[in-house]
Amino acid sequence: MGELTPDVEPEELEVDASLRPASLTEFIGQPRVREQLELVLEGARRRGDPPDHILLSGPPGLGKTSLALIVATELGAAIRLTSGPALERAGDLAAMLSNLAPGDVLFIDEIHRIARPAEEMLYLAMEDFRVDVVVGKGPGATSIPLDIAPFTLVGATTRSGALTGPLRDRFGFTAHMEFYEPAELELVLRRAAVILGVDLHPDGGEEIAGRSRGTPRIANRLLRRVRDFAEVRADGRVTRRVAQEALAVYDVDALGLDRLDRAVLGALVRSFGGGPVGVSTLAVAVGEEAGTVEEVCEPYLVRAGMLARTPRGRVATASAWAHLGLTPPPDVVPGGPPALF
Ligand SMILES: Nc1ncnc2c1ncn2[C@@H]1O[C@H](COP(=O)(O)OP(=O)(O)OP(=O)(O)O)[C@@H](O)[C@H]1O
Ligand SMILES: [Mg+2]
Repeated sequence: MGELTPDVEPEELEVDASLRPASLTEFIGQPRVREQLELVLEGARRRGDPPDHILLSGPPGLGKTSLALIVATELGAAIRLTSGPALERAGDLAAMLSNLAPGDVLFIDEIHRIARPAEEMLYLAMEDFRVDVVVGKGPGATSIPLDIAPFTLVGATTRSGALTGPLRDRFGFTAHMEFYEPAELELVLRRAAVILGVDLHPDGGEEIAGRSRGTPRIANRLLRRVRDFAEVRADGRVTRRVAQEALAVYDVDALGLDRLDRAVLGALVRSFGGGPVGVSTLAVAVGEEAGTVEEVCEPYLVRAGMLARTPRGRVATASAWAHLGLTPPPDVVPGGPPALF
């Protein structure tokens, strides 16, 4: 998580934990990733070795942390959790690595934000299960090689492109997480409704699923907001009507775009004539960090066919203009949702 997902509140983290699927069979959607991961884990289990290092890549809220925890559970291994930004000094990482027991899983969230010296230490650890601990400073410094237990690194990143080549190459398997289909999100919602004790009707689930930006975390969050509405303003049952009324209150539009999504599209279309415009300029226009616009906002806008990334910058498609109730200029890219949407 961290600063790229500023919208994750503490309350949400607790609910996240209670809603986390505990095993691969409970994990909904991502059929390809699940099949690939099953093979990686089963192969390792049969050989009695720790599996190759695993990289989980994809936009926020698609289940990377959940999958990392599942990997450890499926292996019957202990998991240690840390994150790229927490590993500022190589010494921080050395301490974690030397405390690992054989077969442990080390989870590094936001691994693309790891500091350079720690990253270099990680290369050796991943490849040879060894760290070089530097003792002393300056010309008198010596490096002492230290063996560490064979472990499996699970890295998560919202930006696999920001990983250096050497680091990326040391992962034996990369899982590319995709946005979820509405039908899969309906299943996520049905499961969450049972756990949270929400009276969710099928049409209510369908309505929320369609507005969840292909993201389970958002689906679960919207379910809780709709439940509030249902309990306070209606009879507690989450029907389609109740969901529609509730989501209107929370500014979630029919496509599930939130305020930032709409601000980005609005700026792109109104201030920059539909683009092309560079992502940093666009980010300044909406008062956000470029990283947030790029990693949190854009992937779904691209997926929904509203925004195109071109070498010259970001471009609004005709669907974006239409979604904002505007007439696109004649030469605009058509865009529109891909066939499976
Ligand atoms: N496949 C799934 N089935 C059911 N629920 C899921 C699934 N994937 C994610 N969730 C729900 O979404 C929440 C967010 O998932 P998770 O924290 O694993 O995402 P993440 O990819 O690590 O996000 P971030 O990049 O923000 O760290 C989980 O708590 C869980 O409730
Ligand atoms: Mg996470």
